[in-house]
Amino acid sequence: MVDLNKLIFKIGSDTAFSILARSNELIKRGKDVINLGIGQPDFPTPPNIIEAAVKALKDGQHGYSPSAGILELREAIAEDFLKRTDVQINPENIIVTPGGKAVIFYTLMMFGHPGAEIIFPDPGFIAYKSMIDYTGSKPVPLPHRMENGFSFDADELLSLITKKTKLIILNSPANPTGGVVPYKELKKLAKGLENFPDIFILSDEIYSRIIFDNNKHVSLKSFSQIKDRVIVLDGWSKTFAMTGWRLGYGIFPKKIFDYAEKLAINCHSCVNLATQFAGIEALKGKQDHVENMINEFLKRRDFLVEHLNSIPNIDCVKPKGAFYVFPKIKKDNLSSKEISNSLLENKFLATVPGSSFGKNGEGFIRISYASKLENLKRSIELLKEFISE
Ligand SMILES: Cc1ncc(COP(=O)(O)O)c(C=O)c1O
Repeated sequence: MVDLNKLIFKIGSDTAFSILARSNELIKRGKDVINLGIGQPDFPTPPNIIEAAVKALKDGQHGYSPSAGILELREAIAEDFLKRTDVQINPENIIVTPGGKAVIFYTLMMFGHPGAEIIFPDPGFIAYKSMIDYTGSKPVPLPHRMENGFSFDADELLSLITKKTKLIILNSPANPTGGVVPYKELKKLAKGLENFPDIFILSDEIYSRIIFDNNKHVSLKSFSQIKDRVIVLDGWSKTFAMTGWRLGYGIFPKKIFDYAEKLAINCHSCVNLATQFAGIEALKGKQDHVENMINEFLKRRDFLVEHLNSIPNIDCVKPKGAFYVFPKIKKDNLSSKEISNSLLENKFLATVPGSSFGKNGEGFIRISYASKLENLKRSIELLKEFISE
């Protein structure tokens, strides 16, 4: 047995990736699998973005860049952030990262330690709990309930704070539920956090552009009481269908920026230079691909919610953002893991069990609608069969 740091045994994994591997195995065996398990847009990266990367490569952009990213990109991020949230950010507070996930990692490397408590969304993106556990901190789940449209209750959140709380992680629009936290709850939270001036907040806003029904994304950075202790995570993976490019960013408050930058220097050095140029084009170039993708997601969401709710024993709220629905599903007392397994093995329909996103996800499954409408139509038929058998 290798003598490893014991905390390594606490790291979890992303169930969606193991489901993807199993789906691929079934496909190799000739099965016609519909994969609604994975959280990546089924659209190609827009051509103007690809061309910008190719041009950068041809122009000789092959070296290291400053660790926090090239200034032009950091300025483009600040400009885009101002346009979308009305919040002015100093480009010097931005670190460009290889995907948004690195921002979660660096933040937890700074705030997590044995003895610390960290509040995180449950159900929520799997990496939060995994990395909290790895730092030896105590994970404190914040329930996001279906009856609240999968938002949290600010009073409940404030009641979870103790002297040991170091960080609160929030995510809106959310993975896995598509929930969007209403403005009034954010405002109440910001006010309540005035009493806890040492607590930082990691606001994961990676789905901020994928928001429906005239809901406007409100960044936690826009609340004056907390803006100096909010770390924002965002990136290109979802908005610009760029998951494989690995491009994200963190906005780090001045007080902690140098430490985050040191983590970046010691870990990823800098993001691939051509990808950074692609990132500039994505933010500054034409946005019609993003708009078309969001319109398509909206159609799919409406189709799914309506048809899921027509199936007995399935109950689905209409999510306000991201590209997931999180229906409650009942079948012969099966757990969500058993339901999801059975759907994959017997119906060749890949979903993710709600329980893999936290204990409050039990009883639900996550369906990603980053898949063509015809696949969604077929999955409704398969779910109908499954429930009625
Ligand atoms: C809520 C949330 N945050 C962060 C990420 C990380 O995205 P990436 O590292 O591809 O930028 C994801 C990806 O699934 C996500 O769903």
